[in-house]
Amino acid sequence: MKVRTRWHILEDPHAVAEEAARRVREAAQRAISDRGVFRIVLAGGRTPRDMHLLLARADLDWTRWRVYFGDERCLPAHDSERNSEAAKVALLDRVPIPVQSIHPIPAELGAEAAAAAYAPLVAAALPFDLVTLGVGEDGHTASLFPGRVYPVAEIVHAVHDAPKLPADRVSLSSSSLSRAREVLILATGAGKRDAVAAWRAGDALPVASVGGETVVDVLLDRDAWGDLR
Ligand code: 6PG
Repeated sequence: MKVRTRWHILEDPHAVAEEAARRVREAAQRAISDRGVFRIVLAGGRTPRDMHLLLARADLDWTRWRVYFGDERCLPAHDSERNSEAAKVALLDRVPIPVQSIHPIPAELGAEAAAAAYAPLVAAALPFDLVTLGVGEDGHTASLFPGRVYPVAEIVHAVHDAPKLPADRVSLSSSSLSRAREVLILATGAGKRDAVAAWRAGDALPVASVGGETVVDVLLDRDAWGDLR
């Protein structure tokens, strides 16, 4: 199925962060108004940090938020290189989301055990209101990497051969990430230009597999878009 994608080119990483934070705030307000709760999947990596910092300054109904993660690195709990730790520093420790509403992937248990433990939480949360993701220079997203086959029936994958270290990771599946009312993917910097070009050309990249029936909004800066001035 060809995912419908809307490309939004912004001036620079800060503009991407501002627009992303705006979209997250609006998605939260819609979800809370319609259903009383906002179920969001946070992206890993460095790109979302500025968005998270901007969100942390917003006056939102944080008690209605339910926070999940798209993927996690198999590192000890509280390791600074974990995606959940990065989100804590930039956002979750700065806003009054109840701790029981934040669902880190227990990747410290090891990939298989963590995937098995997280799958029922994801199943109970679907569909997410908003899934936020980054994209790697090779077109990966979450911990779904090119050239790998992931079991279609799985809600959450144990990953052992990630080319982006650490090799052992846990990732929501493409289908789980696609079970969302909105999908927002962020890409900034010239390092993402080749992946974005391949994505735009229709290459079967992991990042291009996310969306399903949902229109995917991609926020990029000019460097990632490869805008020829
Ligand atoms: C991770 C992320 C990964 C990330 C991309 C982009 O564990 O690193 O889940 O999928 O989103 O690799 O990373 P940057 O935002 O740091 O470029």
